[in-house]
Amino acid sequence: MFIFNKPKAILADLIPEGYVDIHSHLLPGIDDGAKTNEDTVQLIQTLNSYGFSEFITTPHVLTGMYNNTRDGILETEETTNKHLHLNNISRLLKAAAEYILDETFVELFKKEPLLTLKDNYVLVEMSYLNPPIQLYEILFELQLAGYKPVLAHPERYLFYHQNFEEYKKLKKAGCLFQINLLSVTGYYGKPVLDICKKLLDNNLIDYTGSDVHHERHAQSFKNKILLKKHDALLAALNNNSFFKLSS
Ligand SMILES: [Fe+2]
Repeated sequence: MFIFNKPKAILADLIPEGYVDIHSHLLPGIDDGAKTNEDTVQLIQTLNSYGFSEFITTPHVLTGMYNNTRDGILETEETTNKHLHLNNISRLLKAAAEYILDETFVELFKKEPLLTLKDNYVLVEMSYLNPPIQLYEILFELQLAGYKPVLAHPERYLFYHQNFEEYKKLKKAGCLFQINLLSVTGYYGKPVLDICKKLLDNNLIDYTGSDVHHERHAQSFKNKILLKKHDALLAALNNNSFFKLSS
């Protein structure tokens, strides 16, 4: 008897129609993402060709490295949208931010409104080296201030890989999880792929994002998905419609 292996799906082919991306670095020149307006146009065109429809783009707010402010981000959002319009790109692009969880962040959200993905949903990240010492206090204070934390790429924090229970603890502490789509292609390596699978299998993933910084990321959507089943991934992709900008 012949056993046929089902060919693996291409990530780009799984993007649902009208997909809303909630994590990217498309605003030019303000973080480690797009450098110029031309980069932004190129990235949006590539992602559009896969079915990406709307973009909530999330420049880093990381004091000492990317000192982005609310006003600065909104200003760049406006000039970028003008440039897109001139290039006949009608896709919706809205700016939010990806805030690093640290002491400065606590001072910030106590002082002024954050740039949210939608309503009170705010995208947050940690250092890849270690979690902040006050992690759970910060998450508590953030929710006390009325926000819902969406933790970016939980699968990429290697310090949690040997301690899966910590993910459950984070969810119990109120975090929603957003995986990077490229994680399922093995782009960030096998350990990240394996944890991503486990998070999906345990129904711990709420949303997805491209976390696109440059064209190499965008082109990697043509790679194969290294998951045996796609149901949890598809559900997480479809959940992003909650953030739809157009009515
Ligand atoms: Fe990011």
